[in-house]
Amino acid sequence: MRRPIIAGNWKMNKTIDEAAELVVGLKRQLYTISEVDIVVCPPFTALSQVSKLLIDSNISLGAQDMHWEEEGAYTGEVSAGMLKNVGCRYVIIGHSERRQYFGETNETVNKKIKTAICNGLIPIVCVGERLEEQDKGLTLEVIREQIENGLKKLSREEVSHIIIAYEPVWAIGTGRNATAQQAQEAQHFIRELLGKLYDTEIASRIRLQYGGSVKPEIIAQFIVQEDIDGALVGGASLDVDSFAQIVKNAIL
Ligand code: 13P
Repeated sequence: MRRPIIAGNWKMNKTIDEAAELVVGLKRQLYTISEVDIVVCPPFTALSQVSKLLIDSNISLGAQDMHWEEEGAYTGEVSAGMLKNVGCRYVIIGHSERRQYFGETNETVNKKIKTAICNGLIPIVCVGERLEEQDKGLTLEVIREQIENGLKKLSREEVSHIIIAYEPVWAIGTGRNATAQQAQEAQHFIRELLGKLYDTEIASRIRLQYGGSVKPEIIAQFIVQEDIDGALVGGASLDVDSFAQIVKNAIL
């Protein structure tokens, strides 16, 4: 039985004070929850403050991106070691916004995953097709390419540490979520592919999240699906009540 995991991707939102307010509110509403792994991914500037507030709580810390090198002359970048040092347990890698606006490729995703795992971080690897790709019926082909290249040369041991988030780009921030059936179909395909690339035992252990306009009212339809083990939540993770309700509604 895979344990559900609900993660909030705050994207480029929240000052340090706003982040603190949000996380204090979440702690208050969620401290009794033990059935679901809960993660918040604030912007880099708020990680330190949020990390302090999360000590001894049931909410874990994640970052939204990282560089693949351990250190060096990479202006503006943040390393896996720095994230670990600030208290991160998770890091989102290959989010479609990074792919779309910042030149992230399957090759950089691959390098980042390796470095994250080496540093003891759990990568939440994002995949998903764009609208025009969906229109052309290329959804599964795009996902296959992203996974095969993103996970290239990762050992069975390494891949056992990752989480994969299926986020169809057309469903992100649009209010137009995929149907639970569409997500299940794509995520079943992902699990089968992992089974072929590795083996069915490891594929059955890897947790797969759905992301794209997740709201409290719809999370349950997703979580009941065989291959959906949680959600990566954007907009609805910025509000205490809505994120807390998503977590609670993910308990079956
Ligand atoms: P929304 O929930 O705002 O659609 O964002 C999803 C997402 O991109 C999470 O990483």
